[in-house]
Amino acid sequence: MTEDNNYAHLSPRLSVTDAEPDRNLALELVRATEAAAIASSPWVGFGDKNAADGAAVDAMRGLLSTVNFNGVVVIGEGEKDEAPMLFNGEQVGNGSGAECDVAVDPIDGTRLTALGLNNALSVLAVADRGSMFDPSAVFYMEKLVTGPEAADLVDLRLPVKQNLHLIAKAKGKKISQITVTLLDRPRHAGLIEEIRAAGARTKLLMDGDVAGAIAATREGTGVDALMGIGGTPEGIVTACAIKAMGGVIQGRLWPTDDDEKQKAIDAGHELGRVLTTNDLVTSDNCYFAATGITDGDLLRGVRYKNGRIHTQSIVTRAKSGTIRFVDGEHQQDKWEAYTR
Ligand code: FBP
Repeated sequence: MTEDNNYAHLSPRLSVTDAEPDRNLALELVRATEAAAIASSPWVGFGDKNAADGAAVDAMRGLLSTVNFNGVVVIGEGEKDEAPMLFNGEQVGNGSGAECDVAVDPIDGTRLTALGLNNALSVLAVADRGSMFDPSAVFYMEKLVTGPEAADLVDLRLPVKQNLHLIAKAKGKKISQITVTLLDRPRHAGLIEEIRAAGARTKLLMDGDVAGAIAATREGTGVDALMGIGGTPEGIVTACAIKAMGGVIQGRLWPTDDDEKQKAIDAGHELGRVLTTNDLVTSDNCYFAATGITDGDLLRGVRYKNGRIHTQSIVTRAKSGTIRFVDGEHQQDKWEAYTR
């Protein structure tokens, strides 16, 4: 048997058609999040979130234009505060290859970046065309995220205390050993009280609930669940990651006014419905990539050392369930020439 033949039995499962994104796309996507993280890094701590976001958007757009796929941004960012954006409906990729939905978040944590605080990430998710949830005009979503142990037990419709007990039991912990992460917002005052009254701890985030959600699904992060209201785009991106990492995200659209509510109803959404990971991304052929901008629980931020730029990223592919951590070392002068 030749060396090649040793792997012949794998070939049917590894074969892909042009119609679906292939597994090499995963590493191409990391290039785009690396580029966005590096481009925004000079702005870390400079107090200008729009400049940081603009640099990340331009770099991500530039890199994506070289990637062999036919992507459409279905989850863009920026409408909220007129920040620079990769807009919904924008074509990305070089136009050849598989047709995909793309969710972009060139910086999740623009304020964290501007203030030089931890946990800012550059994030990208890709899935088969038509498979990402369309939230219409509803920017916010109520979320419940936890790891694989309690994924089949929790339910957003249950009281907070009950979900916390289910998570504790599934993880073999006391409720006092459970930590829930959530955005530090006035809208969460009641929820924070409920969590603490149930006997669990809270870890409040200034921003960045993608990083918080991923921490909630992973062992060893000190976080057992994410709760509360955050961005719907971030929820969809999180679902792409969870499909490979295990765990669950449940969400419920949270319109902020009658206009948003009406638009959601007109778009066919049932407002009280609990959306699961599979509702948020119906295809298992989906990818998630993130690169640290500032240091965080999940990834190190961009660092400069001896003429090299160091990055750390994670990239997942749901179809195979593969999770890769990628350490990048980029030669600074070549990087600058390449991206000019
Ligand atoms: P940006 O970096 O894009 O501003 O998003 C940060 C973020 O904290 C998200 O992680 C979160 O989902 C959303 O904003 C929450 O929105 P708000 O700040 O309006 O509560």
